[in-house]
Amino acid sequence: MSFVKFKDVIEDGDTVIVKYAQHSSFVVVEKGKDFHNKHGRFLFDDMIGKPFGSRIYASDRGSLRSYIYAMHPTPEYWTEVLPHRTQIIYASDISMVTFMLDLKPGSVVLETGTGSGSLSHAIARTIAPTGHLHTFDFHAERVEKAKAEFASHGLSDVITVKQADATRDGFGVDGLCDAVFLDLPSPHLALPFADKALKSTGGRLCSFSPCIEQVQRTCDLLRDMKYTDILTIEVLERKLEAKPTTMPECPLTSTAPPKAGKRKAGESSGASKRDKRGSSIDDTSALSFTSTNHVAEQKGHTGFLTFATKPHALLLQSPAEDDDEGDEGDEGRKNE
Ligand SMILES: C[S@@+](CC[C@H](N)C(=O)[O-])C[C@H]1O[C@@H](n2cnc3c(N)ncnc32)[C@H](O)[C@@H]1O
Repeated sequence: MSFVKFKDVIEDGDTVIVKYAQHSSFVVVEKGKDFHNKHGRFLFDDMIGKPFGSRIYASDRGSLRSYIYAMHPTPEYWTEVLPHRTQIIYASDISMVTFMLDLKPGSVVLETGTGSGSLSHAIARTIAPTGHLHTFDFHAERVEKAKAEFASHGLSDVITVKQADATRDGFGVDGLCDAVFLDLPSPHLALPFADKALKSTGGRLCSFSPCIEQVQRTCDLLRDMKYTDILTIEVLERKLEAKPTTMPECPLTSTAPPKAGKRKAGESSGASKRDKRGSSIDDTSALSFTSTNHVAEQKGHTGFLTFATKPHALLLQSPAEDDDEGDEGDEGRKNE
């Protein structure tokens, strides 16, 4: 199977995203075997041959009919369920990175460190089938695990993963890349190698850092290297939830207590109720509607994303060099 080419039907050996209520996990389908979660025991044989997206019922809950949904993997789902070997980049940062690095099918990208491969999967899906991701990590075991994962997710044609110290070794892809992404403790030490990896015609760079001190060092060096459009962003997600709400109708023209009014669609009837503070709510004049509020617990700071543009090599030539060229040009014409 491939995370970047969708197929319809679940087969033996496929990675399947298991969705139930607000939770997700993943399984690798094994003919004749089963898996368990709090909703029951599920047989892989009940999945094989079914379309992705099917409901699969627990085999041991009788009339309770507990079920899960068996979904095709996507980079978004994978980020939710992947085995964490490191801290990872999450969906809201990934979407900003993909957009701001101008990634598209055919892009050649350098990433370091690979970590748990969360971002690598998303980059691969965006640049496939003609682009390529060169991803590096200095941790041998993480490199081997990532290599095996990319192979089993059908990404070997799009991703090459190698072991290298980004602050010492360089990457061996000089002048080949359209974009670079750094997620390292000392990104400023990797910048000279990252710069070499970008094409001489220019490219985009992003560095992810949890601490502002790392951002400052990175920005200082980017300015020294004559990078342009230097911009640091923090992406904060603010989710809304919709829920049914009931409120007493407020009489605007009199100070008298609310009268019984016509009930609107969806209003309940019956005896008087009490609100959260214990005051009586005249149920006959209460309004029922759906309200939206920000979810109380939200994901907070993950890191700062610093973006910059490497200019075309011609734009970095000093005015003196330009003058020299001009003179040579004149000479050339004189000699003709
Ligand atoms: C936070 S993780 C990257 C997570 C990754 N972006 C993801 O979404 O899964 C940082 C990785 O950088 C690697 N690393 C740290 N310093 C490095 C260096 N100098 N050269 C190469 N890799 C390095 C670590 O081994 C670790 O796997």
